[in-house]
Amino acid sequence: MTKIPEKGMPRDELFARLETFRRGDVDWRSGRTWAYVYDPGSETEEVVKQAFSSYLSENGLDPTAFPSALALENEIVAMAIAHLNGDANVVGTFTSGGTESIILAVKTARDRARKLQPEIREPEMVLPETAHAAFHKAAHYLDVKPVVVPVDPTSFRADVGNVRGAITSNTILLVGSAISYAHGVVDPIRELGQLALERKLLLHVDGCMGGFLLPYLRRLGRPIPDFDWTVPGVTSISMDFHKYAFAAKGASVVMYRDRELRRHQIYACAGWTGYTVVNPTVQSTKSAGPLAAAWAVLNHLGDEGYLRLARAMLDATTRVCDGLARIPALRLLGTPDMNLIAFASDEVSVFHVADEMRERGWFVQPQLAFGASPENLHLSINPASARWVEAFLADLAASVEAARALPSGQLAADIRDAVAGIDPGALSDDDFAKLLAFAGVQGEGLPGRMAGINEMMNALPPPMREALLIAYVNHLYEPVRGGGA
Ligand SMILES: Cc1ncc(COP(=O)(O)O)c(C=O)c1O
Repeated sequence: MTKIPEKGMPRDELFARLETFRRGDVDWRSGRTWAYVYDPGSETEEVVKQAFSSYLSENGLDPTAFPSALALENEIVAMAIAHLNGDANVVGTFTSGGTESIILAVKTARDRARKLQPEIREPEMVLPETAHAAFHKAAHYLDVKPVVVPVDPTSFRADVGNVRGAITSNTILLVGSAISYAHGVVDPIRELGQLALERKLLLHVDGCMGGFLLPYLRRLGRPIPDFDWTVPGVTSISMDFHKYAFAAKGASVVMYRDRELRRHQIYACAGWTGYTVVNPTVQSTKSAGPLAAAWAVLNHLGDEGYLRLARAMLDATTRVCDGLARIPALRLLGTPDMNLIAFASDEVSVFHVADEMRERGWFVQPQLAFGASPENLHLSINPASARWVEAFLADLAASVEAARALPSGQLAADIRDAVAGIDPGALSDDDFAKLLAFAGVQGEGLPGRMAGINEMMNALPPPMREALLIAYVNHLYEPVRGGGA
C-alpha cells in the first residue's frame, strides 16, 4: 500500500511527477478534444488560474469571516440575473457545478411542496427524456420520483403534450432544457411555462450548458427560442460558469424567481455542539477559489470578449455541420441551437468511428441509444476548434471509411442473449467478468479501444448499463498497493 513518504519531496521533483501523472490524459490544449473542456485560450486561462490560486484558502463557509467571498458571490449572481433578463425579485446562489445547482433546485421544489402541499407523500417531477442525468441523481438523493416522457423524435425537443399527460396530483416540478446536452437544442420553454402556470407548478430551466452562451448567439443573429426570466411560469434557472463562461471548474449558479422560493433551499443546523451551520449549498467548507476565478474571467473577457468567442464558436459549428452534410454516411440529429451537436450513422458503427478518431488524435464522445435517440457521437465545440475544422472533417471522413471495414452488430446480439437471465440488481462478480470478456476487456485498467464496450453497453437495457458501470467503477478506483506512479 502506498504510504505518505517519510521525507518530503523537493518541489521540482513533485511538479515533474504531477506532469507524469498527466501523460495518459487527452491532450486538450491541442484543440483536438471535443468534449469536457471549455478553452478560451492560454491568456485567459492564466488569469483564471491566478485568481483561483489567490483565493484558494479562503473559506466560503462563513461570510462573516470572509465578507469578500460574499461580495464576490453577490456580484457574480447579479451578472447572471442581468444576463438572463431577471427583474429585481430574482435571487441566486453560486454553486460548485450544474449537478449541485440542479440538486438544489429539486430540493427547493421538494421542501416547498412539503410545506405548502403536505398531502403530497410521493412527490414527482416530469422529465423529458433529454433532461440531464443530474435530475435523476437529484431524484435518487432526494426521494423524488422522476417521470420520464418521450421527446419529439425528430427535433429532440420536449413534447409539451407528453409533459402535460404525465402531470398527476403528486407533481411538484416540470423541467425544460436550454440547451439539452445530448442534442444541443432548446426545449419549448414558453409553452412549458404556460403549462406550469395553468397547473400551478414550478418550472426549472436547465441552462447549465446553454444559459450563458445563448444570449450571445441571439445577438449574432441566431433564432434562439425564449428561455430566460422573461418567460412567464419559469421559477428557477441553473447556469454554469465553468462551461461557456470559461471559469475554473466548480462554478455555477442556481437562480429563483424570488427570495420566498429560495428559502426552501437553505439548510441550517443548531442541533450539535459545534458552530451553528447555515448552508445555502450542499458543500459547507469550500474554497473561494472558484468564486474568484469566475469573477475574474467575467471581468477579464467582458461582454465584448464573450461575443468574440461566441462568434468563433458559431462559425466553427456552422462549418462542422456543413462538413457533416458532405459525409453521406453521417446524419445530424435534430437542428442544434448552439455549438453542441450529435450525429448518427445508419451505415457504420459510430463506436468504431470514435475509436478511429482517437487513433488520429481526436476525442469525440460516444452517446448510447436511448428513447428516440440512436447511438451517436457528440461534439462540444470550443473557440479553439475553429482552426481545426478542416483537419477534423478530413479525419472524420477517413474514420468513417476505416469503420466500414470493422465488424459490428454480432456482439450486440450475443450480449442480449447472455444477459437475458441476469437481474441487474444482483449482478455478481462472475456476471460482471463474463460481460466484460464479451466486450473484449481483459485484466485491469481501461481498454484502449472502446468500441466493444460501447457496443455492449448500447445493447443492454439502461438498468443493466447502470449496474455494469457501478461494478466497473467500483473496481476501477483501487488503492495503489505497493509503489506509486
Ligand atoms: C444541460 C446540462 N445540465 C447539467 C449538466 C451538469 O453539469 P455538471 O457536469 O457541471 O455537474 C450538464 C453538463 O454537461 C449539462 O450539459
